[in-house]
Amino acid sequence: MAEYRTESLRGIREFLRFRKSPLTLLHNIASRGVDVVQITAGKRQIFFVNHPNLVRDVLVTHDWNFIKGPGLRASKPLFGSGLLTSEGELHRRQRRLAQPAFHSARLAEYAREIVELGTAASQGWSNGQEVAVDREMMQLTLQIVGRTLFTADVLHEAKDIGDAVTGALHHFRQLNSPFIQAAQFLRRWASARARRSRVRFEDLLSRIIADHRAHPERYNDMLSLLMASDDETGTGYMSDELLLDEALTIFLAGHETTANALTWSWYLLAQHPEVEEKLYEEIEDVLQGKQPTPEDVLKLRYTGEIFREALRLYPPAWIIGREAVTGYRLGSTEVPAGSTLLMSPYAMHRDPRFWNSPESFLPERWADPLAANRPKFAFFPFGAGTRVCIGEHFAISEGVLLIAVIAQQWRLHLVPGQEISPEPQITLRPRRSIHMRLEKRLEDRKPAH
Ligand code: HEM
Repeated sequence: MAEYRTESLRGIREFLRFRKSPLTLLHNIASRGVDVVQITAGKRQIFFVNHPNLVRDVLVTHDWNFIKGPGLRASKPLFGSGLLTSEGELHRRQRRLAQPAFHSARLAEYAREIVELGTAASQGWSNGQEVAVDREMMQLTLQIVGRTLFTADVLHEAKDIGDAVTGALHHFRQLNSPFIQAAQFLRRWASARARRSRVRFEDLLSRIIADHRAHPERYNDMLSLLMASDDETGTGYMSDELLLDEALTIFLAGHETTANALTWSWYLLAQHPEVEEKLYEEIEDVLQGKQPTPEDVLKLRYTGEIFREALRLYPPAWIIGREAVTGYRLGSTEVPAGSTLLMSPYAMHRDPRFWNSPESFLPERWADPLAANRPKFAFFPFGAGTRVCIGEHFAISEGVLLIAVIAQQWRLHLVPGQEISPEPQITLRPRRSIHMRLEKRLEDRKPAH
């Protein structure tokens, strides 16, 4: 049996140290090649799982022995029984019903909307302008999810949706901590606030659902597919309540993550002019001055490698939590029932056992044939197993297309003198806004055909 390197941290001080600066601790664990770290504080037991085979065991092989961690469970007042938070049979059924909305033929439709909205956003910029790139990306991905999910213009027609979502996310952030049990009073307060945000969202969405029911011919979006979904028994329609939960879940899960991945991509690109040049070359070669089409996503290989490398260094879902339903043997460590298990793509993606020069931004590493020898679960920005991100291919196509559409016309320069660091909230976002100056590269493009 494989031997795994294990460490124990005991006492409330260790627990608080970890809580205060998780990224420092994760970095430290990864750089020393530790596989399991057991943190004990009173009755609370947390296990850090930092080996690809153990991640596979928990997320894939023995997934039936785990439920979502306390942080996500605490967010039920916001998400209800949507895909992120439901368990067991309900999750399996809902996932089957939601799947058609993410089929490849649908992704091609969404890709057209992504290019259209990305083009419109970048046409609103001017040469020499300074932008907070994180806010620009958040607005853009919010618009994209609003349009592809329920054909709403979140910025103009339905500004309320944007506001309700921002409010809901704010409260969710306060709920979604693996350490939430340490702050019960905060949890109760945040639950009440999240519930209020949810009521606003429910209100808006109920109207959108009613309009979809009254005029189905007007819509060809994710929501209409969720409404029409049917399972093998022919009775698999979603109740209005579940429909609402799923729409809210996809809305929230589907934009902040991608916005952060894009923000970090621009940040990394701006510091690596040699990568930028190769990117522009590929864009010119593949697109020849036209707007990208859905088929171009696969052809833009280097662009895809840039996005993947940004996901490696700054995985938006920097930590994934589970709770053990029964006692479990994790490698050589006994994990009691009720313990929290934490797996961090951030730590694993920077672990020198699996990555050469792990701290360097090297998109070329993805084209290296030796990369195939790397353990599969050394890279898991979208999770794994039955709970793997349903929007993975949507997100990759969104990332590649938006990088291509924007870099076709703009070079983004970092405004000097900023202190930039990642902040591990619900997603890994920059601690402060990242300001970038826009330089126009080319004049407006021709449409695709
Ligand atoms: C770069 C962008 C994204 C990243 C890094 C990301 C990451 C993840 C991760 C790690 C999980 C699994 C969480 C766990 O196992 O506890 C997840 C689940 C999920 N994601 Fe994403 N995601 C992204 C984009 C999206 C998009 C664009 C959508 C929808 C349009 C989406 C919808 C969902 C949903 C519904 C789930 C729950 C799936 C289930 O449990 O069946 N995500 N995501």
